[in-house]
Amino acid sequence: MRIVVTGGLGFIGSHLVRWILQHQPQVDIINVDALTYAGNLENLADIADNPRYQWQRISITDRPGLEAVFRDQGPIDAVMHLAAESHVDRSIQSGVPFVETNVLGTQILLEVARNAGVSRFLQVSTDEVYGSLGGTGSFVEHTPLSPNSPYSASKAGSDLLARAAFETYGQDVVITRCSNNYGPYQFPEKLIPLFITNGLDGKSLPLYGDGLNVRDWLYVEDHVRALWMVLNQGKAGEVYNIGGNNERSNREVAQTLVSLMHLPETAIVPVPDRLGHDRRYAIDSSKIQETLGWRPETPWEQGLALTVQWYRSRRAWWESIKNGTYKDYYRDQYGTL
Ligand code: NAD
Ligand code: DAU
Repeated sequence: MRIVVTGGLGFIGSHLVRWILQHQPQVDIINVDALTYAGNLENLADIADNPRYQWQRISITDRPGLEAVFRDQGPIDAVMHLAAESHVDRSIQSGVPFVETNVLGTQILLEVARNAGVSRFLQVSTDEVYGSLGGTGSFVEHTPLSPNSPYSASKAGSDLLARAAFETYGQDVVITRCSNNYGPYQFPEKLIPLFITNGLDGKSLPLYGDGLNVRDWLYVEDHVRALWMVLNQGKAGEVYNIGGNNERSNREVAQTLVSLMHLPETAIVPVPDRLGHDRRYAIDSSKIQETLGWRPETPWEQGLALTVQWYRSRRAWWESIKNGTYKDYYRDQYGTL
């Protein structure tokens, strides 16, 4: 089996690629990744020479580039589509790159995969497409989409384009909507790695607003297993929610982290709120649990301790990101697309 993974040099994509190579010996992977600021070759340095793996530096907005991959590396059996602009705060600065990659890029990829006769397309969406919850309830697969940020609106666009490909052309598409992931190799602009790396550097942990916004956290490897299950056992045209059943306020996350890192609570510093900040996400993942038998396996305390330990032991990885040297290196080595 030959699959194209997009966004394999990012956080979740790199875990997915590594997990497939370890657990699915019959699968060859072509990683289509543009190596934006969020991609990092270090994330897959340990498997870069695996004969079942190759990386193609192509943007999903580059139709001829994608067509060449599907023609020259084919036949491709499946696409697992993770490439995206993924950070909400950046989308508040400008939504344009989000529309380009998440909306336009997804449509181009759907068309190229369809024309190449790919049997299955997995669209990796997000719980943020559902919008924000009040104090109770959780998102189910038929909750209406109501995205609030340019990021989540662009992800809702890609999610709906995937659905439209199924409805219009009968393209075999499955869609997943997952809650917040955490774990090693997450880019230190996101809450947990930002707080850990700031803490390890003796800097403050900037908590937005009142700190009572709630996210439903899932360890990244649990997400990766779910993606593989949906790719292989999910029903065409269906949506599967994925979540950790692990709701925490940002203040609770910050407090657990300062305790794990033996820092004073005063390290947590309130800062002005994010614009349009979604109050609460919570995912009901009964469908994937009951129909495919998936379960989150990593307890929060264990996953978070593992994550703190990883950032402690991989200082060079995040320091070069935070001080910009990795950007200079990649620009010199690979140029810009
Ligand atoms: P990330 O930002 O860490 O990685 C994104 C990757 O996509 C990078 O390697 C980047 O180089 C690549 N990329 C960006 N634009 C591209 C383009 N035009 N062409 C090709 N490659 C491009 O993202 P992540 O956190 O690993 O998220 C992966 C996917 O999972 C995204 O689609 C995101 O919306 C979704 N998701 C993320 C979370 C989460 O908590 N991180 C939760 C649910 C869903
Ligand atoms: O829910 C899934 C989504 O989770 C994914 O689709 C996104 O790609 C991913 O980035 C994530 O979005 P969030 O906006 O929830 O994640 P982020 O890590 O940016 O923020 C988590 C919460 O922490 C959020 O309520 C904002 C808050 N926060 C974040 C940062 C960066 C802070 O309080 N301080 C910060 O410095």
